[in-house]
Amino acid sequence: MKMKKFISMLMIAACVCSMAACGSKESADSEEEKGGEEKKTLIMATNAEFPPYEYHEGDDIVGIDAEMAAAVAGELGMDFKIEDMAFDSIIPAVDSGKADIGVAGMTVTEDRLQNVNFSDTYAKATQVVIVKEGSDIAGPDDLTGKKVGVQLGTTGDIYASDIKDAEVEQYNKGFEAVQALTQEKIDAVVIDGEPAKEFVKDAKGLKILDEAFTEEEYAIAIAKDNEELLEQINGALKSLKESGKLDEIVAKYIKSDAE
Ligand code: ARG
Repeated sequence: MKMKKFISMLMIAACVCSMAACGSKESADSEEEKGGEEKKTLIMATNAEFPPYEYHEGDDIVGIDAEMAAAVAGELGMDFKIEDMAFDSIIPAVDSGKADIGVAGMTVTEDRLQNVNFSDTYAKATQVVIVKEGSDIAGPDDLTGKKVGVQLGTTGDIYASDIKDAEVEQYNKGFEAVQALTQEKIDAVVIDGEPAKEFVKDAKGLKILDEAFTEEEYAIAIAKDNEELLEQINGALKSLKESGKLDEIVAKYIKSDAE
């Protein structure tokens, strides 16, 4: 029958066609490069003017953050490198990809969350007020109308700018603010509690007020478009917390008040 023959010929034609099409297709995906297996380097941006979290010791940058981040890199099988910079350059460095993580006793704030992601928190902190012994400033409320020193771009800077009629002096390093206080150029310094203890310990005639200004939490900053690293960092932090390694690092740098 003519019709039957025609149909079967059509079917054969269709078959041959699709087989031919088959051959040329596949090759594209199979050669995806495996990416040379050399170790990645985790680059940490910090401002090493913040003992006991990060500070210079000879040619090295040491402290809780430095050791914690090195341990995080170790957990992830990565090499590790620290880049020291101004505190207010850290978020731009992370955001632009110049650094992978910002670790600088950095407080999680709504504002910063606009520009970077934060890991799970790894420390609780406070902002405290340092004054000269014998100062008439007895609590944060007495800062009204005073000259208050801060480190530029820190949460201390932000809070101080809200104090009524206060004149805020911004320094590049927290230590410089404390120096200015010693020299009576300013009336008080608003800064994180642990560095405050370190700075006051090394200075003469200064004290930390009992009443803290704020409560805060520190976390690691990571670029917003790097969700994968965020998860990796949180995983590594979790195991450092669970193994007791993080506590060990903290204990090395912060002696408990009882001692
Ligand atoms: N916790 C404060 C903040 O996040 C001060 C941090 C300053 N850190 C430093 N490495 N200098 O603004």
